[in-house]
Amino acid sequence: MRLTGLMDGEPDWLANLANGAAAIFDWFPDLNWAGFYLMRGGQLVVGPFQGRPACVRIDVGAGVCGTAVARRASQVVPDVHAYPGHIACDPRSRSEIVVPIFHQGQVVAVLDLDSDRPDTFDELDREGLEAVAELLARAVDWERALRS
Ligand code: SME
Repeated sequence: MRLTGLMDGEPDWLANLANGAAAIFDWFPDLNWAGFYLMRGGQLVVGPFQGRPACVRIDVGAGVCGTAVARRASQVVPDVHAYPGHIACDPRSRSEIVVPIFHQGQVVAVLDLDSDRPDTFDELDREGLEAVAELLARAVDWERALRS
């Protein structure tokens, strides 16, 4: 997998998350945003991403990202307009997938992909992105990454 090659032996968490966001944005068609929110001080704070500027802080339980943290589970949203509480950072977004990243049993970050087309993400994408999240769980020094 190309991502493994990008991160192999690289200890810098910021470099790994930045290249991770860029690689995912490059791989998936129809994305308008791909990146990370990191758990810092009890809130999700925007991390490395590709796309338009995004909301900086999201509470646990809020929006699709905060729901993925609260439920400790991936969220696949075929139509963001039909999702109560969806946080619209970019009005072009029509569908979304959010995958939690775990470290020592805690959600430390989420991987968030937005598409400008409805119904973009399926179960196969969820499985693939959960594998990416596991890879990132191992490739990133989370103690450093979560320090502000
Ligand atoms: N839509 C997300 C917020 C983050 S942006 O999509 C980049 C949400 O509802 O949590």
